[in-house]
Amino acid sequence: MSIIKKCLFPAAGYGTRFLPATKAMPKEMLPILTKPLIQYGVEEAVEAGMDTMAIITGRGKRAIEDHFDISYELEHQIQGSSKEHLLNDIRGLIEHCTFTYTRQKKMRGLGDAILKGRVLIGDEAFAVLLADDLCDNLEGEGVLKQMMRVYEKYRCSIVAVQEVDREDISRYGVVSGRALDEQIMMVDDMIEKPEADEAPSNLAIIGRYILTPDIFEKIERTEAGKGGEIQITDALRQQAKEGMVMAYRFEGCRFDCGSVDGFVEATNYFYERMQEHS
Ligand code: G1P
Repeated sequence: MSIIKKCLFPAAGYGTRFLPATKAMPKEMLPILTKPLIQYGVEEAVEAGMDTMAIITGRGKRAIEDHFDISYELEHQIQGSSKEHLLNDIRGLIEHCTFTYTRQKKMRGLGDAILKGRVLIGDEAFAVLLADDLCDNLEGEGVLKQMMRVYEKYRCSIVAVQEVDREDISRYGVVSGRALDEQIMMVDDMIEKPEADEAPSNLAIIGRYILTPDIFEKIERTEAGKGGEIQITDALRQQAKEGMVMAYRFEGCRFDCGSVDGFVEATNYFYERMQEHS
């Protein structure tokens, strides 16, 4: 049985880079082929053994709740038709998982969004998945499942990292530390969106975290940082200084679906995969 059961999805952001598409629709509902981004995320969490999805929403995000609920009219309409199978995956998720929600009323940053999830998580280790970062590992294990193995060994907070080009580093949280093996590094420092010449490495944090519950107190004590927002990177830095945080170089690929370029790349990638399987 999996030791981490809950996955937190910060989903309160406005998605301004996708306006006007995100004017009345949550960015997490943008589809890659026929599946919304957040459903890919929930599937990754389920694959890793989790069954409780804690979603931080905000105004204008109701479509997410409706997506993860039964639509009786639709079920009735589609029953016995050739399209019925199109609902199989989402039906399976709805049956298997519990979905819980709370709203972040003011946008105060990712750290604050995670802190708002405390009422849904309680006092246990949990995963965080940013649905914008869409990951795939072909037939291999998904990123959260890989990270669960690391957690089973080290029992501390873990961030997924990936090498990025120097010119892109200022878009990410960046880690430095001591390599324990080819994939795992003990973090000694981390900094949110540094200038390229201040970055301690080219290892960028990707939107997958496993966090131990003491992170909540660390966030409470974290002052506004980059962009005037409460940054999870700053709270994790404190956790690394006082305890232990690991960075994990995951296997697989990742698309930044928060950008139009990344979104189109992901669409092409999944379209090719679909063609291969049909
Ligand atoms: C957030 C984090 C950042 C991380 C990134 C991954 O930034 O603050 O540390 O590298 O997600 O996608 P955002 O992209 O929300 O600005």
